Amino acid sequence: MSLSLTLTVNGETRAIDLDDPRVTLLDLLRERLGLTGSKKGCDRGQCGACTVLVNGRRVNACLSLAISLDGAEVLTIEGLARGDALHPVQAAFIEHDGFQCGFCTPGQIMSAVGLIREGHAGDDPERVREGMSGNLCRCGAYIGITQAVLDAQARLAASEQGEAA
Ligand code: FES
Ligand code: FES
Repeated sequence: MSLSLTLTVNGETRAIDLDDPRVTLLDLLRERLGLTGSKKGCDRGQCGACTVLVNGRRVNACLSLAISLDGAEVLTIEGLARGDALHPVQAAFIEHDGFQCGFCTPGQIMSAVGLIREGHAGDDPERVREGMSGNLCRCGAYIGITQAVLDAQARLAASEQGEAA
């Protein structure tokens, strides 16, 4: 069985040889690729701290076997900003105090980016809370998180409309 795979991580192609087929995407990112932004909260799919986008969809990296993702595109928190320019979701989290200790924040932000891309965020706080319910925050920063997602969704929609006009 081949334990080699190729991933595109934050736009960069990475050829990877695994020494164990049980390596999760989260451990690969953190321990092999040095991308420690994705956090290991529970390591069992319950907290969302490890959320990344795989082929544009939100996944819990702790539940994804790296070997099953050959050829996939992975976007992590490290790949969101463009140089010094924060992604609108990152900027909105800062503006709305969407965090306290920050441990859950990379997962919250990646989940929010995924939710907005899925087109499910809308302008209804209840829908945002439901869409973000897989991401737990021990600090209880949920009010700011919801406001940040709503604000970022509105700004991204406005800028898309501006581009289309
Ligand atoms: S660390 Fe993956 S869901 Fe908690
Ligand atoms: S900001 Fe501390 S866990 Fe969410």
